[in-house]
Amino acid sequence: MILAREWDAGKYEELSALQTRWGVGVLGRLDARGDEAAIDAGCGTGRVTELLLAKLPEGSVLAVDGSRAMVEAARRRFAGEPRVRVERQDLLSLEVEERVDLIFSTATFHWIADHDRLFGNLARALESGGRLVAQCGGEGNISRATRATIETMEEERFRDYFVGWKDDKYYADASTTTRRLEVAGFEEVAAWLHDEVAAFDTMGELARFLGTVVLGGHLERLPEEKRGSFAAAVAEKVAAVDGRPALDYVRLNITARRSA
Ligand SMILES: C[S@@+](CC[C@H](N)C(=O)[O-])C[C@H]1O[C@@H](n2cnc3c(N)ncnc32)[C@H](O)[C@@H]1O
Repeated sequence: MILAREWDAGKYEELSALQTRWGVGVLGRLDARGDEAAIDAGCGTGRVTELLLAKLPEGSVLAVDGSRAMVEAARRRFAGEPRVRVERQDLLSLEVEERVDLIFSTATFHWIADHDRLFGNLARALESGGRLVAQCGGEGNISRATRATIETMEEERFRDYFVGWKDDKYYADASTTTRRLEVAGFEEVAAWLHDEVAAFDTMGELARFLGTVVLGGHLERLPEEKRGSFAAAVAEKVAAVDGRPALDYVRLNITARRSA
């Protein structure tokens, strides 16, 4: 069963320069032999997967994502590339035919609330000694945008659409993540947070980015004609905090090895 929500893959491809930059950073600390069988867990449209593949000239990548639109986009990207297989799977019920040497993931784990189950599934998909190298949103991530979103949801014009709302993102801290990974069967675990401010040239750019990348679940609840004004209202509140359109990202970095 797929629980992951849908994404606008076309807009994501257009607006994900930031996520691609983060992906490049995480790949920079991936010391690969080059012949590994890898999984990209939450591959999106495959922009970062393509860079992962370039680090594995004799290896292969199973690119997994829960969104139908993202999977279709990734399949188009890798059409004719025999070293990449794209599968639509929920990482919370991940199943692989053969265990892999490496699991790579960026900008995905914070979309998944049950990290115990997620890490257990990743451990089962890895060979003994196989590595997990990942990054996602961590504790305190985009706190201004989170506050601004709550305030906007409470405005009279939007309130009725969010009755019973439960946030779909989870920003874990480093020590809880370390403990969870060890319980799931990983060793040599390192988990740490770092800050990354992302500045945008205009308010419109920030609103478009928020609408596509951050507020997708919120916008799904709203009628089409209210979506733009919701994202714009969140963007205005975010920018009002320090007088410029910027997001206060906190990234949770993870490296770990599957115990023998
Ligand atoms: C922000 S995108 C990141 C995509 C890509 N890794 C990148 O850095 O551009 C997050 C991706 O995680 C996927 N995702 C979220 N929850 C998931 C789940 N439970 N199972 C599989 N994919 C999931 C989404 O469908 C989406 O494509």
